[in-house]
Amino acid sequence: MYCHTPCGPWSTVVHYIGNRVPLGMQTKPDLCDELCLIDVMEDKLKGEVMDLQHGSLFCKTHKIVGDKDYSTTAHSKVVVVTAGARQQEGESRLNLVQRNVNIFKFIIPQIVKYSPNAILLVVSNPVDILTYVAWKLSGFPRHRVIGSGTNLDSGRFRHLMGEKLHLHPSSCHGWIIGEHGDSSVPVWSGVNVAGVSLKGLNPDMGTDADKEDWKHVHKMVVDGAYEVIKLKGYTSWAIGMSVADLVESILKNLHKVHPVSTLVKGMHGVKEEVFLSVPCVLGNSGLTDVIHMTLKPEEEKQLSNSAETLWGVQKELTL
Ligand SMILES: NC(=O)c1ccc[n+]([C@@H]2O[C@H](COP(=O)([O-])OP(=O)(O)OC[C@H]3O[C@@H](n4cnc5c(N)ncnc54)[C@H](O)[C@@H]3O)[C@@H](O)[C@H]2O)c1
Repeated sequence: MYCHTPCGPWSTVVHYIGNRVPLGMQTKPDLCDELCLIDVMEDKLKGEVMDLQHGSLFCKTHKIVGDKDYSTTAHSKVVVVTAGARQQEGESRLNLVQRNVNIFKFIIPQIVKYSPNAILLVVSNPVDILTYVAWKLSGFPRHRVIGSGTNLDSGRFRHLMGEKLHLHPSSCHGWIIGEHGDSSVPVWSGVNVAGVSLKGLNPDMGTDADKEDWKHVHKMVVDGAYEVIKLKGYTSWAIGMSVADLVESILKNLHKVHPVSTLVKGMHGVKEEVFLSVPCVLGNSGLTDVIHMTLKPEEEKQLSNSAETLWGVQKELTL
């Protein structure tokens, strides 16, 4: 999926690669003035495009197209990559890596060829590693290569927190950072409602001694995708909506802070060239700033453990 600016700085065109994940973009139907799906499966691509076109009366996207030729994506402003193999039931995100690296070796050079100034937003899993791969293959500066990272994990956490407290998720604040998925890190010290720290009220929060069992909430975040995949075969709505939110921040230059995957070498004791999620400011030049969180030593340790695991995989890759 791509968003691009072919006709001037404020005209936006969205192009999609992949299928179900990007379709959630339609939950924000007035983000762009052109939408294009790209996929290698031609019939499926044609079907998705027609289905979207039939809904064009009800959205404000001027043009909806689909192609397998990347020239259609020329001058993209934002390129969102969701193409690739997806997790099978019970398969870890890391297992997916080599299959998707090979797909990226084909996709990324095409994107760079036609849209050398685009912002790349990577969603395919394992997202942190594939964001690194996209950065390496594209040669783009780090601020123009972003992974959707723990934006969805944080959304899942805030939804579950809302259920527990009987509040809307937008009033429940909490950040899941680090690796998207199995080793993500909940920052308990930052969990709050209206500025009231829950850790202040319950100092055991997130520990084994916690009577409210917040650790289980984080476990449900980690297990959430596996559960949905087990039940319906894939995830689509929440990731689509969360990616649409990121694209909106970029295209509308909102300077909103999102937990997304960026190059974290030199931050929080990470020594390796890896991408992990930290709170990042997004605007129309990409990722403009990183908010430095005050983390506990054990949280920093979790981040550096993830970094070592990811680097262990990355250094074996042939790019
Ligand atoms: N980061 C996240 O939070 C998150 C959440 C959900 C899914 N995902 C990931 O997104 C990816 C897609 O998931 P999905 O459920 O939409 O899978 P899917 O199998 O339904 O769709 C993937 C699409 O990619 C296409 N594709 C494969 N190779 C291609 C190529 N070379 N060029 C263009 N298109 C190509 C396939 O034809 C397919 O239509 C997976 O890697 C999945 O793990 C990430």
